Amino acid sequence: MPGKALALCLVPLMLLAACGSQPSTSLPSEAPLAGARIGGPFALTDQDGNTVKDSDFAGKYRLMYFGYAYCPDVCPVDVQNLMQGLKAFEKQNPEAAAKLQPIFISVDPERDTPQVLKQFVGNFHPRLIGLTGSPQAIAAVAKDYAVYYRKAGDPKASDYLVDHSRQTYLMGPDGKPIALVPQDGKPQEIAAVLAQWVR
Ligand code: NI
Repeated sequence: MPGKALALCLVPLMLLAACGSQPSTSLPSEAPLAGARIGGPFALTDQDGNTVKDSDFAGKYRLMYFGYAYCPDVCPVDVQNLMQGLKAFEKQNPEAAAKLQPIFISVDPERDTPQVLKQFVGNFHPRLIGLTGSPQAIAAVAKDYAVYYRKAGDPKASDYLVDHSRQTYLMGPDGKPIALVPQDGKPQEIAAVLAQWVR
């Protein structure tokens, strides 16, 4: 069976050729979060009171952070870092950066009214969108994005805290996840991750 012998010979040769001839820069071309079950449709309310759906961002990259406006320390620092990174990216490559929509989604819908979010997002970036919604709608979007959150301390006190997971997603123009963005990184580190994927 010469045909089969030939085929068996060719397979290792092709593997070798693939390894040897590809420049190493092309190896991580697969997005770190490719295939991850993160994301999904949502309908929420933005800081101006408008209904916003995930489909409104079709064709745009999305930088998504989940937190709450009353967060005493972590959220504001993270959002500040992320938006400084976005600003650095905007300076490097304004054309690509224009295709990226930054989005803050509240995990504290009871206190984060559109008015509260408007003031919050306005502190960080002129294009940052703040989204809130009914407790049910927020629970659904958090689940779809694998985000955990829970009231901490006395949930009846008006100054309760919210424990929540801390991750920032870069999503693609098709709404699929691409990579995590290091929200505690320096602006240049954040900009570098954005530059790697947002074209
Ligand atoms: Ni927080």
